[in-house]
Amino acid sequence: MDTGLDIENSAQLIAYLVETGWIDTAESASTTVLHGGVSNKTVLVERANGDDWVLKQALPKLRVQVDWFSPVERVHREALGLRWLERIAPPGTTTPLVFEDFDHHLIAMAAVPQPHENWKQQLLRGEVEPDHVEQFATLLGTIHREGARRRGELEPVFGDRGFFESLRLEPYFGFTASEVPEARRFLLDLIDETRAHIETLVHGDYSPKNILVHDDRLILLDHEVIHFGDPTFDLGFSMTHFLSKAHHLPERREQFVIANNAYWTRYRSMVADEPWADDLDARAVRKTLGVMLARVRGRSPLEYLDETERSRQADAIVTLMADPPGSIPELASAFIQHISGLE
Ligand SMILES: Nc1ncnc2c1ncn2[C@@H]1O[C@H](COP(=O)(O)OP(=O)(O)O)[C@@H](O)[C@H]1O
Ligand SMILES: [Mg+2]
Repeated sequence: MDTGLDIENSAQLIAYLVETGWIDTAESASTTVLHGGVSNKTVLVERANGDDWVLKQALPKLRVQVDWFSPVERVHREALGLRWLERIAPPGTTTPLVFEDFDHHLIAMAAVPQPHENWKQQLLRGEVEPDHVEQFATLLGTIHREGARRRGELEPVFGDRGFFESLRLEPYFGFTASEVPEARRFLLDLIDETRAHIETLVHGDYSPKNILVHDDRLILLDHEVIHFGDPTFDLGFSMTHFLSKAHHLPERREQFVIANNAYWTRYRSMVADEPWADDLDARAVRKTLGVMLARVRGRSPLEYLDETERSRQADAIVTLMADPPGSIPELASAFIQHISGLE
């Protein structure tokens, strides 16, 4: 049942919270619509007792330029993610779930306290803090390592990969394969490879945009495509952000390459002894190439890259796909070399 509740409408939301007993009639709560996401309505509820919440309600149609639909049930996948990450991820790196409403397809979680800033904004200003990069690697390494070790509990919960297929594999790799003929074979093989590696808990949206920095600590948000699958997807997805910013901000290029390689090295050392980490280097290189191209030619291009930068990135990546570098640091330096040659 969906009674048409719109959480961005403050009066409706307060009435709903009172009716459902989550807040008291006498309590004065205020609501603020939060921006930054594209696939949910996200609202901050500030309560008199300071115990603030963020509510997310899934949108059936994403707020992007092209028509892009996705079932609203995915918000309940995020609730599962919140429940399990709280047990698996390092303490304080996720926000506890407060409640989940299956009728209205919404969830409530603890709000990250102010002051906080979205990590993407800091990075785009060229502020690359090595300690933040290390935390970003430790957080992912912990999720992947513990996720694989707890496979028996997690695979039954997160085994469905439907949202990952429709929100990641198709729009990133599948669509890009149809747009860039020279990369088609590489990307179709990458889809097969991703589907074949069912190894651990994968976040699926592991990006600086989904990180808030509070008190110099990183907090991870946005778990709606979390699933049991191929960990190198998270690696390719995240390193694409460091390398694309290295491209976009020439005066900070060296820092972003250093950050990328430090991230990789820290992550690699955390999972080195895990049985699934055998051929990690080659797989991480291929995923990074795939996502780097998808973020300039797929359905969800990086908005801070202009047309010239997108074309340059596509040229460099297509060239590298023909003979992929043997390691992540080699990929980073080869990419920068190609980019610099085209500037
Ligand atoms: N628990 C939270 N505390 C504070 N702000 C939050 C919280 N959850 C989300 N936000 C804010 O809302 C924005 C969108 O949330 P996100 O979970 O990324 O939604 P979407 O799935 O639409 O991308 C975030 O970038 C952040 O600014
Ligand atoms: Mg988000």
